[in-house]
Amino acid sequence: MKGKIEIIPGDITKLAVDAIVNAANNSLLGGGGVDGAIHRAAGPELLAECRTLNGCATGDAKITAGYRLPAKHVIHTVGPVWHGGAKGEPELLRSCYRRSFEVAHGASLRSIAFPAISCGVYGYPLDEACAIALEETKAALERYPELERVIFTPFGAEAEAAYRAALSRVFGP
Ligand code: APR
Repeated sequence: MKGKIEIIPGDITKLAVDAIVNAANNSLLGGGGVDGAIHRAAGPELLAECRTLNGCATGDAKITAGYRLPAKHVIHTVGPVWHGGAKGEPELLRSCYRRSFEVAHGASLRSIAFPAISCGVYGYPLDEACAIALEETKAALERYPELERVIFTPFGAEAEAAYRAALSRVFGP
């Protein structure tokens, strides 16, 4: 497994990578949080392309260009809203990561950055979400040898600590 994992706290819209992942909603027509930040930074052409995609199911992922972003592409995924964990939320969040990696592979991308999908407005507990993110990343790095960099961009100290703890748990100290 040659790809490496990085934790880079801060604004995901600043990263010059092959793709940044957007924590979108089913309409793909923008919103607040990281979705709002990505659309603001990408400019109106992003929304115009999103309109052609006919939305996105929860757990699925769709790719667009990055437009005015430093990132070449945006991979839009829709995370589950947290309802306590017994309504298929973990499986749907896993699917967001798996589908995002699949779409990145399909576009031969080498570097991808993720925000903490579902951990804001959608209320997913950080520790559980970060564990899923790192577990699915470990599997993706083994499955897609072309993948060189997977970056997590925690927003705030609590998220950063959650990613670092998950990294140690999944990959060892
Ligand atoms: N860069 C990196 N991370 C960010 C940024 C940013 N610029 N802005 C917010 N975040 C973090 C939040 O702190 C949170 O940890 O991204 C994580 C995801 O939070 P949300 O953006 O609220 O996304 P989510 O919880 O998946 O809810 C999605 O919110 O914005 C709407 O349209 C979106 O309806 C959808 C819902």
